[in-house]
Amino acid sequence: MTSRRQVLTQSAALIGAASTGLILPARAQSAKIRVGLMLPFTGTFAQLGIACDNGFRMALEEKGNKLGGREIEYFKVDDESEPSKGVENANKLVQRDKVDVLVGTVHSGVQMGIHKVARETGVLCIIPNAGMHAATRALCAPNVFRTSFTNSQPTLALGRVMMQKGHKKAVWITWKYAAGDEAGEGFKEGYLAAGGTIVKELGLPFPNVEFQALLTEIASIKPDAVACFFSGGGASKFIRDYAAAGLAGKIPLYGSGFLTEGLLDDELAPSAQGIVTTLHYSTSLATKRNDAFRLAYAKAYKMQPDVYAVQGYDAGQLLIQGAAAVNGDFSKKKALYVAMENAVIDSPRGKWTMSKAHNPVQDMYVRVVKGKENVVQGVAAKALSDSGAGCKLG
Ligand code: PHB
Repeated sequence: MTSRRQVLTQSAALIGAASTGLILPARAQSAKIRVGLMLPFTGTFAQLGIACDNGFRMALEEKGNKLGGREIEYFKVDDESEPSKGVENANKLVQRDKVDVLVGTVHSGVQMGIHKVARETGVLCIIPNAGMHAATRALCAPNVFRTSFTNSQPTLALGRVMMQKGHKKAVWITWKYAAGDEAGEGFKEGYLAAGGTIVKELGLPFPNVEFQALLTEIASIKPDAVACFFSGGGASKFIRDYAAAGLAGKIPLYGSGFLTEGLLDDELAPSAQGIVTTLHYSTSLATKRNDAFRLAYAKAYKMQPDVYAVQGYDAGQLLIQGAAAVNGDFSKKKALYVAMENAVIDSPRGKWTMSKAHNPVQDMYVRVVKGKENVVQGVAAKALSDSGAGCKLG
């Protein structure tokens, strides 16, 4: 029998060994890295969440499903694009599942909840879509990185494109929540600077799709053009209703590229012809990097990628670079963050870098819907950086 004294002596020896670093690091290194995915898998943004998830996993699969030499364990939460459950859902991953990194999410309102938890707990967070300004502006944080955009980035260059086509008076229409409002800010800034006038701003609550009364109003205003932010299932309905109201071809429709992204199937494409958008990606980008990505994605998931898949993929690429720099030891936070800040991401959208506020510095493309593709017409803004206003990092 082992005496109580012997047990105590043995445990003391163990603790001693651990504190000199002989035991604990070895165990920590062999444990799996816990990756939490908080995304919408139901509702109007379900398709977006699935694409982010697919892209992220594909990046890791390309590296043998390892981060800095360690195996990965996934934890998943469907956030339903429901802002009121944002904090609770983020805590399921951070407090209950004890993830090392939280990857999420799509919806800016839900991101608010994740951001609160990330700031309070210090957990590493990578945003694969949601563009809420505060995350990389006034509320920026050393442990929060974004691989997508800020909400005003894609619409900043849209106004100039519209003015070049002679559309001087426009109606702006969107869902009334952070993403729509901030996309509107970007549009207004660019369009006014280019000499345009916004004759009316229209909105409806997220995720409503009762567009009829608003489309009737647009028809009576008769602007030169309409610009908008919609996305996912709601964007598809907006494009169909716009055409059904007889406005397609009469009053040209513009938007941030989310409007047509991942949606151009046989059913929707006829209503979407000629829609011009600005975005940081298009499947039609003719580069070797994009061709290889498209091929691999189609093979793995039996569907075409879109911007959300690319952003998820780049979240994976960013994490891979960070983890490699610290050999999978996520407790080396400073070195991890420095590596992520200095990462150059070889993305299917084109190479991009991180701004000081942890948001991509990237090109914006002009695209037009032809057939079932968003065909790139040119670069609307080169190496576009968000202002990062109020962020004191770096
Ligand atoms: C957002 O809520 O930040 C958001 C959602 C869908 C998009 C873009 C931005 O396509």
